[in-house]
Amino acid sequence: MLLSRGADWQRKRALVQPAVRPRQVRGYAATMVECAVAHADGWRDGRRVDVMGEMNALTQRIIVRTLFGGDVGDRDRALADAVAVAQREIGAELRSVSLFLPGWVRTPARRRLLAAVATIDAEVGRLIGDRTAAGTDPARGDDLLARLLEARDDKGRPLSPREVRDEAVTLWAAGHETTATTLTWTWYLLSRSPQARDRLSEELARVLGGRPPGYDDYERLHWTRQVVKESLRVYPPAWTISPAVAHEGATLGGAPVPVGTTVWCSPWTTHRDPRWFPDPEAFRPERWDPDAPTAVPDHAWFPFGGGRRACLGARFALVEATLLIATLAQRFHLHVDPGEPTPHPGILLQPAEPLRATLRTS
Ligand code: HEM
Repeated sequence: MLLSRGADWQRKRALVQPAVRPRQVRGYAATMVECAVAHADGWRDGRRVDVMGEMNALTQRIIVRTLFGGDVGDRDRALADAVAVAQREIGAELRSVSLFLPGWVRTPARRRLLAAVATIDAEVGRLIGDRTAAGTDPARGDDLLARLLEARDDKGRPLSPREVRDEAVTLWAAGHETTATTLTWTWYLLSRSPQARDRLSEELARVLGGRPPGYDDYERLHWTRQVVKESLRVYPPAWTISPAVAHEGATLGGAPVPVGTTVWCSPWTTHRDPRWFPDPEAFRPERWDPDAPTAVPDHAWFPFGGGRRACLGARFALVEATLLIATLAQRFHLHVDPGEPTPHPGILLQPAEPLRATLRTS
Protein backbone atom coordinates (compact mmCIF):
# COMPACT_ATOMS: atom_id res chain seq x y z
CA MET A 1 0.00 0.00 0.00
CA LEU A 2 2.76 2.43 0.95
CA LEU A 3 4.29 2.09 -2.51
CA SER A 4 1.16 1.82 -4.65
CA ARG A 5 -0.66 4.56 -6.46
CA GLY A 6 -4.08 5.17 -8.03
CA ALA A 7 -6.71 2.43 -8.15
CA ASP A 8 -4.34 -0.23 -6.80
CA TRP A 9 -3.63 1.89 -3.70
CA GLN A 10 -7.33 2.69 -3.27
CA ARG A 11 -8.30 -0.99 -3.33
CA LYS A 12 -5.58 -2.00 -0.86
CA ARG A 13 -6.34 0.86 1.51
CA ALA A 14 -10.05 -0.04 1.49
CA LEU A 15 -9.21 -3.67 2.24
CA VAL A 16 -6.74 -2.98 5.04
CA GLN A 17 -8.60 -0.11 6.75
CA PRO A 18 -11.18 -2.27 8.59
CA ALA A 19 -8.31 -4.04 10.40
CA VAL A 20 -7.34 -0.85 12.24
CA ARG A 21 -10.78 0.65 12.93
CA PRO A 22 -11.37 1.83 16.53
CA ARG A 23 -13.51 -1.28 17.22
CA GLN A 24 -10.56 -3.50 16.28
CA VAL A 25 -8.07 -1.33 18.17
CA ARG A 26 -10.18 -1.94 21.30
CA GLY A 27 -9.36 -5.63 20.86
CA TYR A 28 -5.62 -4.97 20.43
CA ALA A 29 -5.44 -2.77 23.55
CA ALA A 30 -5.32 -5.75 25.93
CA THR A 31 -2.29 -7.16 24.05
CA MET A 32 -0.57 -3.76 24.19
CA VAL A 33 -0.98 -3.56 27.97
CA GLU A 34 -0.03 -7.22 28.55
CA CYS A 35 3.21 -6.71 26.65
CA ALA A 36 3.95 -3.48 28.57
CA VAL A 37 3.30 -5.15 31.94
CA ALA A 38 5.65 -8.02 30.98
CA HIS A 39 8.26 -5.49 29.86
CA ALA A 40 8.05 -3.56 33.14
CA ASP A 41 8.32 -6.86 35.06
CA GLY A 42 11.79 -7.21 33.53
CA TRP A 43 12.91 -3.71 34.63
CA ARG A 44 14.71 -3.04 37.93
CA ASP A 45 15.32 0.10 39.99
CA GLY A 46 18.68 1.62 39.06
CA ARG A 47 19.11 -0.24 35.76
CA ARG A 48 20.71 1.70 32.90
CA VAL A 49 18.83 1.45 29.59
CA ASP A 50 18.99 2.62 25.99
CA VAL A 51 15.54 4.20 25.75
CA MET A 52 15.05 3.69 21.98
CA GLY A 53 16.21 0.06 22.25
CA GLU A 54 13.71 -0.62 25.05
CA MET A 55 10.82 1.06 23.25
CA ASN A 56 11.64 -0.66 19.95
CA ALA A 57 11.71 -4.09 21.59
CA LEU A 58 8.34 -3.41 23.23
CA THR A 59 6.54 -2.04 20.16
CA GLN A 60 8.00 -4.84 17.97
CA ARG A 61 6.52 -7.41 20.32
CA ILE A 62 3.17 -5.65 20.29
CA ILE A 63 2.91 -5.38 16.51
CA VAL A 64 3.91 -9.05 16.08
CA ARG A 65 1.31 -10.16 18.66
CA THR A 66 -1.44 -7.96 17.25
CA LEU A 67 -0.64 -9.13 13.70
CA PHE A 68 -0.30 -12.84 14.26
CA GLY A 69 -1.82 -13.50 17.69
CA GLY A 70 -0.41 -16.53 19.47
CA ASP A 71 0.58 -18.29 16.19
CA VAL A 72 3.97 -16.67 16.01
CA GLY A 73 5.17 -18.61 19.07
CA ASP A 74 8.89 -18.15 19.66
CA ARG A 75 9.61 -17.20 16.02
CA ASP A 76 9.09 -13.50 16.68
CA ARG A 77 12.80 -12.92 17.42
CA ALA A 78 13.88 -14.16 13.95
CA LEU A 79 11.18 -12.10 12.28
CA ALA A 80 11.88 -8.99 14.33
CA ASP A 81 15.60 -9.23 13.55
CA ALA A 82 14.91 -9.60 9.81
CA VAL A 83 12.57 -6.58 9.77
CA ALA A 84 15.15 -4.54 11.71
CA VAL A 85 17.91 -5.48 9.22
CA ALA A 86 15.68 -4.67 6.23
CA GLN A 87 14.73 -1.27 7.65
CA ARG A 88 18.32 -0.44 8.56
CA GLU A 89 19.67 -1.38 5.12
CA ILE A 90 16.93 0.48 3.24
CA GLY A 91 17.60 3.58 5.38
CA ALA A 92 21.36 3.30 4.81
CA GLU A 93 20.93 2.89 1.03
CA LEU A 94 18.73 5.98 0.84
CA ARG A 95 21.56 7.98 2.41
CA SER A 96 24.40 6.52 0.34
CA VAL A 97 25.67 6.64 -3.23
CA SER A 98 24.57 2.98 -3.67
CA LEU A 99 21.12 4.41 -4.34
CA PHE A 100 22.37 5.33 -7.82
CA LEU A 101 23.74 1.85 -8.62
CA PRO A 102 21.63 -0.36 -10.90
CA GLY A 103 19.41 -2.91 -9.14
CA TRP A 104 21.49 -5.89 -10.30
CA VAL A 105 24.64 -4.69 -8.48
CA ARG A 106 24.85 -6.75 -5.30
CA THR A 107 26.66 -4.70 -2.65
CA PRO A 108 27.20 -6.42 0.75
CA ALA A 109 24.42 -4.21 2.14
CA ARG A 110 22.02 -5.30 -0.63
CA ARG A 111 22.88 -8.95 0.05
CA ARG A 112 22.01 -8.45 3.72
CA LEU A 113 18.76 -6.79 2.68
CA LEU A 114 17.83 -9.63 0.29
CA ALA A 115 18.59 -12.24 2.95
CA ALA A 116 16.38 -10.38 5.43
CA VAL A 117 13.56 -10.11 2.87
CA ALA A 118 13.84 -13.85 2.17
CA THR A 119 13.48 -14.58 5.91
CA ILE A 120 10.45 -12.27 6.17
CA ASP A 121 8.85 -13.87 3.09
CA ALA A 122 9.41 -17.37 4.41
CA GLU A 123 8.27 -16.71 7.98
CA VAL A 124 5.22 -14.59 7.17
CA GLY A 125 4.33 -16.98 4.32
CA ARG A 126 4.47 -19.88 6.77
CA LEU A 127 2.23 -18.09 9.28
CA ILE A 128 -0.33 -17.30 6.57
CA GLY A 129 -0.05 -20.85 5.19
CA ASP A 130 -0.76 -22.34 8.63
CA ARG A 131 -3.77 -20.09 9.00
CA THR A 132 -5.23 -20.94 5.59
CA ALA A 133 -4.43 -24.68 5.80
CA ALA A 134 -7.37 -26.96 5.06
CA GLY A 135 -9.69 -27.37 8.00
CA THR A 136 -8.98 -24.06 9.76
CA ASP A 137 -11.06 -20.92 9.53
CA PRO A 138 -8.58 -18.34 8.18
CA ALA A 139 -10.45 -15.48 9.84
CA ARG A 140 -10.39 -17.07 13.29
CA GLY A 141 -8.83 -15.00 16.02
CA ASP A 142 -8.82 -11.31 16.87
CA ASP A 143 -5.59 -10.39 15.18
CA LEU A 144 -4.76 -8.18 12.21
CA LEU A 145 -3.99 -11.21 10.04
CA ALA A 146 -7.52 -12.55 10.54
CA ARG A 147 -8.93 -9.16 9.46
CA LEU A 148 -6.71 -9.12 6.33
CA LEU A 149 -7.76 -12.67 5.42
CA GLU A 150 -11.48 -11.95 5.75
CA ALA A 151 -11.35 -8.60 3.87
CA ARG A 152 -13.28 -8.46 0.56
CA ASP A 153 -13.38 -5.67 -2.04
CA ASP A 154 -16.60 -4.37 -3.62
CA LYS A 155 -16.54 -7.29 -6.08
CA GLY A 156 -16.21 -9.79 -3.23
CA ARG A 157 -12.54 -10.56 -3.97
CA PRO A 158 -10.04 -11.14 -1.15
CA LEU A 159 -6.43 -9.97 -1.05
CA SER A 160 -4.17 -12.51 -2.78
CA PRO A 161 -1.78 -14.49 -0.51
CA ARG A 162 1.08 -12.28 -1.70
CA GLU A 163 -0.92 -9.11 -0.99
CA VAL A 164 -1.80 -10.38 2.50
CA ARG A 165 1.88 -10.94 3.15
CA ASP A 166 2.85 -7.52 1.77
CA GLU A 167 0.19 -5.68 3.77
CA ALA A 168 1.05 -7.57 6.96
CA VAL A 169 4.69 -6.53 6.52
CA THR A 170 3.61 -2.95 5.69
CA LEU A 171 1.62 -2.69 8.91
CA TRP A 172 4.54 -4.13 10.79
CA ALA A 173 7.13 -1.80 9.29
CA ALA A 174 4.91 1.31 9.46
CA GLY A 175 3.55 0.44 12.87
CA HIS A 176 6.30 -0.06 15.39
CA GLU A 177 9.38 2.14 15.04
CA THR A 178 7.20 5.22 14.54
CA THR A 179 5.52 4.61 17.91
CA ALA A 180 8.81 3.60 19.58
CA THR A 181 10.30 6.91 18.41
CA THR A 182 7.36 8.86 19.86
CA LEU A 183 7.72 7.05 23.17
CA THR A 184 11.47 7.72 23.26
CA TRP A 185 10.99 11.47 22.78
CA THR A 186 8.13 11.43 25.30
CA TRP A 187 10.34 9.91 28.03
CA TYR A 188 13.00 12.51 27.25
CA LEU A 189 10.51 15.40 27.44
CA LEU A 190 8.95 14.08 30.66
CA SER A 191 12.38 13.65 32.17
CA ARG A 192 13.07 17.36 31.57
CA SER A 193 9.69 18.53 32.84
CA PRO A 194 9.07 17.58 36.49
CA GLN A 195 5.77 19.48 36.48
CA ALA A 196 4.37 17.48 33.54
CA ARG A 197 5.63 14.27 35.14
CA ASP A 198 4.01 15.04 38.51
CA ARG A 199 0.72 15.79 36.80
CA LEU A 200 1.03 12.49 34.93
CA SER A 201 1.66 10.55 38.16
CA GLU A 202 -1.31 12.28 39.79
CA GLU A 203 -3.63 11.38 36.90
CA LEU A 204 -2.46 7.76 36.76
CA ALA A 205 -2.99 7.32 40.50
CA ARG A 206 -6.44 8.95 40.37
CA VAL A 207 -7.77 7.17 37.27
CA LEU A 208 -6.08 3.79 37.56
CA GLY A 209 -5.35 3.43 41.29
CA GLY A 210 -2.49 1.01 40.59
CA ARG A 211 -4.28 -1.29 38.12
CA PRO A 212 -3.14 -1.67 34.49
CA PRO A 213 -5.08 0.52 32.03
CA GLY A 214 -7.66 -0.82 29.59
CA TYR A 215 -9.02 0.54 26.32
CA ASP A 216 -11.77 2.52 28.08
CA ASP A 217 -9.16 4.39 30.11
CA TYR A 218 -7.79 5.94 26.91
CA GLU A 219 -10.55 8.57 26.94
CA ARG A 220 -10.20 9.11 30.70
CA LEU A 221 -6.43 9.73 30.66
CA HIS A 222 -6.70 13.36 29.47
CA TRP A 223 -3.27 14.55 30.60
CA THR A 224 -1.48 11.42 29.38
CA ARG A 225 -3.04 11.92 25.93
CA GLN A 226 -2.01 15.59 25.96
CA VAL A 227 1.56 14.57 26.83
CA VAL A 228 1.65 12.22 23.82
CA LYS A 229 0.08 14.82 21.54
CA GLU A 230 2.58 17.49 22.60
CA SER A 231 5.49 15.07 22.16
CA LEU A 232 4.29 14.39 18.60
CA ARG A 233 4.26 18.15 18.04
CA VAL A 234 7.76 18.86 19.36
CA TYR A 235 9.37 15.80 17.76
CA PRO A 236 7.17 14.49 14.93
CA PRO A 237 8.77 11.13 13.93
CA ALA A 238 7.68 11.71 10.30
CA TRP A 239 9.38 15.10 10.15
CA THR A 240 8.62 15.52 6.45
CA ILE A 241 5.88 13.90 4.46
CA SER A 242 5.97 12.29 1.07
CA PRO A 243 5.53 14.78 -1.70
CA ALA A 244 2.34 15.71 -3.47
CA VAL A 245 2.43 16.65 -7.16
CA ALA A 246 0.46 19.76 -8.12
CA HIS A 247 -2.48 19.27 -10.49
CA GLU A 248 -4.03 21.87 -12.81
CA GLY A 249 -5.32 24.85 -10.81
CA ALA A 250 -3.46 24.05 -7.56
CA THR A 251 -2.73 27.02 -5.28
CA LEU A 252 -0.61 27.43 -2.16
CA GLY A 253 -1.41 30.36 0.15
CA GLY A 254 -3.31 31.86 -2.77
CA ALA A 255 -0.39 31.64 -5.23
CA PRO A 256 -0.71 29.35 -8.25
CA VAL A 257 1.54 26.27 -8.25
CA PRO A 258 2.70 25.12 -11.72
CA VAL A 259 1.38 21.71 -12.77
CA GLY A 260 3.81 18.92 -11.90
CA THR A 261 5.53 20.83 -9.08
CA THR A 262 6.56 18.59 -6.18
CA VAL A 263 5.33 19.90 -2.84
CA TRP A 264 6.70 18.64 0.47
CA CYS A 265 5.01 19.20 3.82
CA SER A 266 7.01 19.29 7.01
CA PRO A 267 5.28 18.76 10.35
CA TRP A 268 8.60 19.72 11.99
CA THR A 269 8.49 23.22 10.48
CA THR A 270 4.79 23.88 10.97
CA HIS A 271 4.80 22.47 14.51
CA ARG A 272 7.52 24.97 15.44
CA ASP A 273 5.84 28.01 13.89
CA PRO A 274 5.13 30.56 16.67
CA ARG A 275 2.02 31.75 14.83
CA TRP A 276 0.29 28.50 15.79
CA PHE A 277 2.32 27.48 18.83
CA PRO A 278 3.56 30.33 21.04
CA ASP A 279 7.00 29.54 22.51
CA PRO A 280 7.15 26.60 20.09
CA GLU A 281 10.26 24.90 21.49
CA ALA A 282 8.69 24.54 24.94
CA PHE A 283 7.06 21.23 25.89
CA ARG A 284 3.65 22.29 27.16
CA PRO A 285 1.00 19.57 27.19
CA GLU A 286 -1.44 22.18 28.58
CA ARG A 287 -1.65 23.66 25.06
CA TRP A 288 -4.06 20.84 24.38
CA ASP A 289 -6.39 21.53 27.31
CA PRO A 290 -9.89 21.60 25.79
CA ASP A 291 -10.51 24.95 27.55
CA ALA A 292 -7.11 26.49 26.66
CA PRO A 293 -7.52 30.22 25.80
CA THR A 294 -6.31 29.85 22.18
CA ALA A 295 -7.28 26.82 20.14
CA VAL A 296 -4.76 25.34 17.70
CA PRO A 297 -6.03 25.78 14.12
CA ASP A 298 -6.96 22.68 12.14
CA HIS A 299 -4.03 21.15 10.23
CA ALA A 300 -1.36 23.02 12.24
CA TRP A 301 -0.69 19.67 14.00
CA PHE A 302 -0.30 16.85 11.50
CA PRO A 303 2.16 14.19 12.70
CA PHE A 304 0.05 11.57 10.90
CA GLY A 305 -0.10 13.50 7.62
CA GLY A 306 -3.45 14.46 6.13
CA GLY A 307 -5.82 13.93 3.28
CA ARG A 308 -6.49 10.63 1.55
CA ARG A 309 -3.11 9.14 2.33
CA ALA A 310 -3.07 10.06 6.02
CA CYS A 311 -1.72 7.45 8.41
CA LEU A 312 -3.96 4.44 8.58
CA GLY A 313 -2.72 3.52 12.04
CA ALA A 314 -3.16 6.88 13.83
CA ARG A 315 -5.75 5.56 16.28
CA PHE A 316 -3.70 2.42 16.89
CA ALA A 317 -0.60 4.55 17.55
CA LEU A 318 -2.28 7.05 19.88
CA VAL A 319 -3.96 4.32 21.93
CA GLU A 320 -0.73 2.34 22.07
CA ALA A 321 1.49 5.28 23.10
CA THR A 322 -1.00 6.44 25.75
CA LEU A 323 -1.53 2.99 27.29
CA LEU A 324 2.19 2.22 27.27
CA ILE A 325 3.12 5.48 29.00
CA ALA A 326 0.31 4.86 31.51
CA THR A 327 1.43 1.28 32.23
CA LEU A 328 5.17 1.97 32.51
CA ALA A 329 5.00 5.38 34.26
CA GLN A 330 2.91 3.86 37.05
CA ARG A 331 5.91 1.77 38.02
CA PHE A 332 9.01 3.59 36.71
CA HIS A 333 10.45 6.98 35.91
CA LEU A 334 13.06 7.14 33.19
CA HIS A 335 15.75 9.62 34.25
CA VAL A 336 17.36 10.52 30.94
CA ASP A 337 21.06 11.48 31.20
CA PRO A 338 21.83 15.23 31.15
CA GLY A 339 22.25 17.01 27.82
CA GLU A 340 20.04 17.89 24.91
CA PRO A 341 19.83 15.19 22.22
CA THR A 342 20.33 16.27 18.61
CA PRO A 343 17.42 15.11 16.43
CA HIS A 344 18.69 13.26 13.36
CA PRO A 345 16.44 13.61 10.30
CA GLY A 346 16.66 10.11 8.80
CA ILE A 347 13.55 8.30 7.57
CA LEU A 348 12.28 9.06 11.08
CA LEU A 349 13.37 11.88 13.35
CA GLN A 350 15.36 10.13 16.08
CA PRO A 351 18.04 11.12 18.59
CA ALA A 352 21.39 11.19 16.76
CA GLU A 353 23.07 9.41 19.70
CA PRO A 354 21.54 6.68 21.88
CA LEU A 355 19.44 8.21 24.63
CA ARG A 356 20.48 6.61 27.90
CA ALA A 357 18.45 6.65 31.09
CA THR A 358 18.38 5.24 34.62
CA LEU A 359 15.21 3.48 35.71
CA ARG A 360 13.75 4.54 39.04
CA THR A 361 10.71 3.01 40.67
CA SER A 362 7.93 5.59 40.91
C1 HEM B 1 3.37 7.62 16.22
C2 HEM B 1 3.24 6.68 15.29
C3 HEM B 1 3.01 6.97 13.83
C4 HEM B 1 3.28 8.08 13.08
C5 HEM B 1 3.90 9.39 13.55
C6 HEM B 1 2.85 7.79 11.72
C7 HEM B 1 2.93 8.70 10.67
C8 HEM B 1 2.53 8.42 9.37
C9 HEM B 1 2.61 9.36 8.28
C10 HEM B 1 3.11 10.80 8.39
C11 HEM B 1 2.16 8.73 7.16
C12 HEM B 1 2.09 9.31 5.74
C13 HEM B 1 0.90 10.20 5.60
C14 HEM B 1 0.90 10.99 4.30
O1 HEM B 1 1.65 10.66 3.36
O2 HEM B 1 0.11 11.95 4.25
C15 HEM B 1 1.78 7.36 7.55
C16 HEM B 1 1.27 6.42 6.68
C17 HEM B 1 0.90 5.15 7.07
N1 HEM B 1 0.90 4.64 8.36
FE1 HEM B 1 1.52 5.60 10.02
N2 HEM B 1 2.34 6.53 11.68
C18 HEM B 1 2.40 5.98 12.93
C19 HEM B 1 1.97 4.72 13.33
C20 HEM B 1 1.37 3.79 12.50
C21 HEM B 1 0.84 2.52 12.94
C22 HEM B 1 0.81 2.03 14.39
C23 HEM B 1 0.39 1.87 11.82
C24 HEM B 1 -0.27 0.51 11.67
C25 HEM B 1 -0.63 -0.28 12.64
C26 HEM B 1 0.61 2.76 10.67
C27 HEM B 1 0.29 2.47 9.37
C28 HEM B 1 0.45 3.34 8.31
C29 HEM B 1 0.12 2.99 6.93
C30 HEM B 1 -0.40 1.64 6.44
C31 HEM B 1 0.39 4.13 6.15
C32 HEM B 1 0.23 4.27 4.63
C33 HEM B 1 -1.13 4.85 4.29
C34 HEM B 1 -1.33 5.00 2.78
O3 HEM B 1 -0.35 5.05 2.03
O4 HEM B 1 -2.51 5.08 2.38
N3 HEM B 1 1.20 3.91 11.14
N4 HEM B 1 2.01 7.22 8.90
